[in-house]
Amino acid sequence: MSIEQLRKEVMSDINSAKTREQCDAIRVKFLGRKEGKLTEILKSLKEMSVEEKRVIGSAANELRQYIEHELNKKTEYIVAHEQKKKNRFDVTKPGKRVVSGVLHPLTKVDKEVRTIFSSLNFTIVEGPELETEVYNFDSLNIPAGHSARDMWDTLWVKQAPNSEGLLMRTHTSPVQARYMESHNPPFQIIVPGRVFRYEATDASHEINFYQIEGLMVGPDITLANLKFVIETFFKKFFKQKIEFRYRPSYFPFVEPGIEVDIKLKGGKWLEVMGAGMVHRNVFDAVKYNHTELQGFAFGMGLDRLAMIKYGVPDVRLFYSGDIRFTKNFK
Ligand code: PHE
Repeated sequence: MSIEQLRKEVMSDINSAKTREQCDAIRVKFLGRKEGKLTEILKSLKEMSVEEKRVIGSAANELRQYIEHELNKKTEYIVAHEQKKKNRFDVTKPGKRVVSGVLHPLTKVDKEVRTIFSSLNFTIVEGPELETEVYNFDSLNIPAGHSARDMWDTLWVKQAPNSEGLLMRTHTSPVQARYMESHNPPFQIIVPGRVFRYEATDASHEINFYQIEGLMVGPDITLANLKFVIETFFKKFFKQKIEFRYRPSYFPFVEPGIEVDIKLKGGKWLEVMGAGMVHRNVFDAVKYNHTELQGFAFGMGLDRLAMIKYGVPDVRLFYSGDIRFTKNFK
C-alpha cells in the first residue's frame, strides 16, 4: 500500500472517529508496534535500496508525525466536547430541593401580635432594655424598700456609687411611664420587647424572655374596654372560641389588678396575663390628671403565647439555637 493511500485511509478514519477509544484504535491500527500499517512500512525499509529508503523513509516518517498530530487534535476535541456535554443543564432531570430558612417561632408570634393589635388601631412602641430604677420601679408605684420589688428578680447593672440605679428591665411596664410622659391621651399602645429576670432557669423560666405590654388611656376607659380588647386579641390569635376567666390579683401599678386565664378547646385553664386599671399614683408620676383620665394596662409573655400555640414544652428550646427545633415552624 502506498504512503498516499495510507494517508487517505488514516484521514477518513480520524474524520469518522467519535470517541477516545476509536482514536486509540486508529493509533494501534497504523502506529501499533506489532502490526501497525505504517510500522510495517517502516520495518520494511531495511530491505530497500538506499534511494528508496531516502524517499519512502522520509515520507513515512512525515506521515507518522502527521498521524500523531491529527490524532492528538481529534482526541482533544472529543475530550472538550465530552466536558461540555457534562456541564450542560439538563432540564429533564429532577431538580435539587432548595432549602429555605424559616422564621423563629418567637419572631412569628411577635409579628402576629403586632398585626392583630395594629388592626385594633394600637400603636407599636418600643423602649430601652437597659432601664433606670426610676422607670422600672418608682414611676410604677414601687418605691425603694417596697416589698413588691421582690416580685421581680432583678439584674442590677454595676456602676459608680451614688449614680442613678441601672438595671435590665424586668418587664415592659416602664415604657408605660416613658410613653405617657411624652404623649397626650387618648391613645392605645402595645410595647413588645425583651425583659430580664435574675432567676434559675427551668422549663418555664428563662433569664430573658419577651413581653407585650398594653396601655390604653382616655377619658372614659373602663374594665369593659380591657375585656373587649383582650378577648378580641386572643380569639384572633388562637383562631378559635375561647373561655375567659378573670381573677383578682395584685400589681402595684394597677387598681384593681386582675389575672386573665383562658381555656382553649379541650384544654385546661391557663394563666396568660396580668392586667388592671392604671393606678392613680402612676398617672400622678407622669403628671396626668387622674380625676379626668382612666386607663387599662396589661402585660403578657410572648414566649408563653408561643408555647401554648405550638405546644412547646420547654421555654429554653426557643433560645437553644438548634435548627432541628426552629425548622418545625413553617
Ligand atoms: N408587668 C407585669 C409583670 O411583668 C405585668 C402587668 C402589666 C400587670 C401591666 C398588670 C399590668 O408581671
